[in-house]
Amino acid sequence: MIIHVNFLPKPGDTGASEVIASLAGLLDQGRLDGDVLSRLRLHLDWLQYKANFREPITVRHASGARGEPTALAELAIDVRRARPERLADELARAIASVGAATREVAGRAVLEDWAPLSRSAIWRFNRLFWQRLGDWEHQSGRGFEAALPSGRSDANHPAAVADAVADFWTLLVELDKRGQLPPEIFALEIGVGSGTRAGLWLDRFKALDEARATGYYPRLRFLLADYSMPTLDRAHRAVEAHRDVVSTIATDALNPMRALSFLRYKILYVHLTNVYDNLPVDELVRRDGQLYLVETRAYLPEPAATAIASTSGVVPSEQRAAVARLLDTGPDLFGDRERGVGFWRAVWAAVCLEERLRRLEGIADVPLPPGLDANDLEELLGTAPADVRFHLSGGAVESFVNTVPLLHPRGYLQVQDIFVATMDEYRQGFRGPGKLDGSVVNWVNGALLRVVGARAGYDVHFAPFRYRPGSRTTILYTTLRE
Ligand SMILES: C[S@@+](CC[C@H](N)C(=O)[O-])C[C@H]1O[C@@H](n2cnc3c(N)ncnc32)[C@H](O)[C@@H]1O
Repeated sequence: MIIHVNFLPKPGDTGASEVIASLAGLLDQGRLDGDVLSRLRLHLDWLQYKANFREPITVRHASGARGEPTALAELAIDVRRARPERLADELARAIASVGAATREVAGRAVLEDWAPLSRSAIWRFNRLFWQRLGDWEHQSGRGFEAALPSGRSDANHPAAVADAVADFWTLLVELDKRGQLPPEIFALEIGVGSGTRAGLWLDRFKALDEARATGYYPRLRFLLADYSMPTLDRAHRAVEAHRDVVSTIATDALNPMRALSFLRYKILYVHLTNVYDNLPVDELVRRDGQLYLVETRAYLPEPAATAIASTSGVVPSEQRAAVARLLDTGPDLFGDRERGVGFWRAVWAAVCLEERLRRLEGIADVPLPPGLDANDLEELLGTAPADVRFHLSGGAVESFVNTVPLLHPRGYLQVQDIFVATMDEYRQGFRGPGKLDGSVVNWVNGALLRVVGARAGYDVHFAPFRYRPGSRTTILYTTLRE
């Protein structure tokens, strides 16, 4: 058995000793199949997201490129949640399932068929959350920002906003001096949430412009973009004082060019905070030199499926169909919105992802997002540890390559998010997916974006978000390569 410690434990705090002792105890009691044990990989994880998609102990099977079973199997333990008093029995059950003839776990309510993670139903849940945010918040009694680890968004930090405005204003002055400042000054924020950042940014820009008498504010065209109409309405109200310079645009962050192609090469500033971490991803795994794609299937564990049946009246055998209706039609599926939102929130709180690894013949079989070249992935894998599991941040890459063509030759893209800067960091901690209220959160593969940016002719660099101690946010800047 190979043991992977996938986080940086504090001394004496790996959680490994209890697990190893339990395994040795099971061996001594003759409760473990030595053959299974010898080919097992044990993964010790620390899932910092209290709400996530994993049960504390899970098994991942691997299959060949055509779905045939293979010897590789992984046992993953979230040492933060594994209960020492139950460890031995749960490990015995999990390991027995590795060698079992059937891989179906009795009692689970399976909600979808197997598919790569980027096509999981969790993204439809995520979308539903932003489309029906008001219904969720009404029942939960709190705004979405309250679910963030710090209780508020780094998007709205006044000092960060002030610096962002100062940088932008400096660029305008420079262009102005050279006679290159366009008559209309376009700025764009995508994924505007409450609109608080946009409001702060506009207040600050107007004040600076007035104080310096530069006359830029009346020439400003500030675009608020989001794919959620209720969010755009809310954000628009937050920037009411600036209505003469603001427009709202329904836009999918995956392809801003679609709605905004008339602004190609015209936008001087594009900003996103905490949007890339909300876009679909795939995950790739490399073991013994072989690449695997992570396939997933959403399910409700038996206790949750039973509890949901008693609170919502939807029995486990009907939960898959009810969830499909919820995702198609929204929380009015029962004709009683309160009940529908209750069902939605209970399913979301409990939903887990079963995982399996499908071997890929080679890099040519990786489902590459538009903008990512197989050579680039190869280059990235060259910098990665031999054994690694990492995000193929397809949504972020797609968004990036469909945003940069909007940039004015001197314009820049600024993205505040949780980025993994090097491939090695994937061995040092859990990088998602987790749940934040009704949405999905995932770290973004910054190393991948750097490679994609270079291919598209852009420099991508990262700066720490130094405005809040302990913040995990990083700021990505992109400019056209000189
Ligand atoms: C986590 S919130 C961040 C809000 C705000 N930027 C902040 O940091 O406080 C994500 C925002 O992005 C929007 N969003 C998520 N996916 C999107 C997509 N594919 N296209 C457009 N907007 C999206 C959501 O509606 C929401 O407003």
